[in-house]
Amino acid sequence: MGLFFSRVRSRALMLMSIISVCTLSDCYDPLDPNGNITVTFDINQWTRDGYMARVTIQNYYQYRHVDKSGWKLGWTWANNETIWSMSGAFATTQGNCSSFKFQIPHSCQKSPVIADLMPDALPENRTDDCCKGGLLAAWAINPSKSFSSFEMMVGNLGANPKVQAPVNLTLMTPGPGYTCGLVEDTDPTVSSDIGGKRQLQAYRTWKSTCTYSSFVANQSPICCVSLSTFYNPKVTSCPSCSCGCRDVDTNTISCVREGFFSAPESGPLDNYDIVQCTDHMCPVRIHWHVMKNYFTHWKVKLTISNYNYKRNYSNWNVLVQHPGFSQNTTAYSFISTMLPSFGFSDDVALFWGIEYYNNELVNADKDQLGAVSTQILLRKDLDSFTLGNGWALPRRVYFNGENCQMPLPDIFPTLPNGSFSLKPAHPLFLLLIHLAFKTFVTWL
Ligand SMILES: *[C@@H]1O[C@H](CO)[C@@H](O)[C@H](O)[C@H]1NC(C)=O
Ligand SMILES: *[C@@H]1O[C@H](CO)[C@@H](O)[C@H](O)[C@H]1NC(C)=O
Ligand SMILES: *[C@@H]1O[C@H](CO)[C@@H](O)[C@H](O)[C@H]1NC(C)=O
Ligand SMILES: *[C@@H]1O[C@H](CO)[C@@H](O)[C@H](O)[C@H]1NC(C)=O
Ligand SMILES: *[C@@H]1O[C@H](CO)[C@@H](O)[C@H](O)[C@H]1NC(C)=O
Ligand SMILES: *[C@@H]1O[C@H](CO)[C@@H](O)[C@H](O)[C@H]1NC(C)=O
Ligand SMILES: *[C@@H]1O[C@H](CO)[C@@H](O)[C@H](O)[C@H]1NC(C)=O
Ligand SMILES: *[C@@H]1O[C@H](CO)[C@@H](O)[C@H](O)[C@H]1NC(C)=O
Repeated sequence: MGLFFSRVRSRALMLMSIISVCTLSDCYDPLDPNGNITVTFDINQWTRDGYMARVTIQNYYQYRHVDKSGWKLGWTWANNETIWSMSGAFATTQGNCSSFKFQIPHSCQKSPVIADLMPDALPENRTDDCCKGGLLAAWAINPSKSFSSFEMMVGNLGANPKVQAPVNLTLMTPGPGYTCGLVEDTDPTVSSDIGGKRQLQAYRTWKSTCTYSSFVANQSPICCVSLSTFYNPKVTSCPSCSCGCRDVDTNTISCVREGFFSAPESGPLDNYDIVQCTDHMCPVRIHWHVMKNYFTHWKVKLTISNYNYKRNYSNWNVLVQHPGFSQNTTAYSFISTMLPSFGFSDDVALFWGIEYYNNELVNADKDQLGAVSTQILLRKDLDSFTLGNGWALPRRVYFNGENCQMPLPDIFPTLPNGSFSLKPAHPLFLLLIHLAFKTFVTWL
């Protein structure tokens, strides 16, 4: 009897620990359940002692990009492979090539690590779709910049090469967080030639998919959400300690916070963010302000602030889940798109900056925070729209794919009692505002 109970309990404990290790937001993202980075090795040619391969890294994450200083792809060779040459990328170490007398290999490492070339790489070092400084755009934002390729000549496998896929693929972006599956044989990749009239087929294709987990990345939260409305003077600030707790010494202006990406070549302080000291201690704050209530529409101002003194967020993106996005939505100063909501009742909108205008969220300096903002006009669904019960406030907010800490609903700004002031503004007024904005945006 005792044994039976203890077994049941340990099974339960095990289950509990798996669940606690893998809460939804950690193990996979319910708003992007099919997201992954796929690494493909296409063998296009046999050589005397090996093969030529084209490696493609494709980011299928809807709103998670690979930022500066770029990806680093590693693996372990199954046999005695060496990389004779490489174009479109480079192995970060050459390793011990002392046993090669006549030809100098590019890398003799058993476990090479490959990094991308910069866009200004010499023509002789390039290949198609290469040299993006390791940056991969998010799939929903710019599919044409969401992948990167390089080519390598693999050899030293003897006269009758036994060709085997590499094992233990690793992907740094540039920090940890990705776990790659087995490198497996799949259907050969087919590509087109002669303007699509002829199809070419790879000799062999291996694939591995890498998925992100913030648990593996072991990253502290990077953003939080604050809220305000036109109908209540109260501003609901970010929950305190959202991204860490502030030092007891409250006189300092800047606080040091454990950062989230560490490049091996960086100095000791480079692994840390230096942020403006706040109660939330987040490098990034998203503010949602319910601005206006019109007859057929309502309007929100979305502001993203950077509290980080050392870091610009290039090509940032913000995802907001809100039932109001099921209606026509116009963002005036950001680009926006709707994402599939995968069965969630609340729609999901993705926002990002306009190139050369506000796609760079610059660092804070001693005078001000870095900030970008837009007004968003949403059509009303008169059956569901209400200012009551916090309906107009977002359900979930992500910044660069990371879940932002939301205040608890019990401190949301509420409707005042007997609020006669909440009658919608006249539709003609809305039209005027709208036209004014159109002109403003065109003028930009
Ligand atoms: C990776 O993502 C692509 C695109 O969403 C999807 O087709 C593919 O099935 C995914 N792979 C895995 C192993 O989930
Ligand atoms: C790798 O090379 C060593 C020395 O040349 C040889 O002994 C060994 O059999 C080779 N391994 C494989 C898997 O071919
Ligand atoms: C380099 O490789 C050679 C031959 O494989 C070996 O004899 C030598 O000890 C290696 N050198 C180092 C520093 O590992
Ligand atoms: C570029 O190519 C040249 C000659 O092909 C080679 O010596 C050089 O190391 C390459 N540079 C990089 C960054 O791969
Ligand atoms: C691959 O990784 C596993 C687990 O870390 C390890 O046991 C195995 O030896 C590695 N294989 C090679 C060839 O390095
Ligand atoms: C951020 O970008 C601005 C403008 O492009 C630049 O002046 C600044 O040095 C950058 N800051 C960092 C920390 O890279
Ligand atoms: C959505 O709003 C924009 C701007 O007001 C308008 O141009 C567009 O036609 C609307 N789309 C729909 C489906 O109503
Ligand atoms: C609104 O009314 C409720 C009960 O009717 C009361 O408890 C609350 O204090 C009132 N709030 C304000 C802001 O007057």
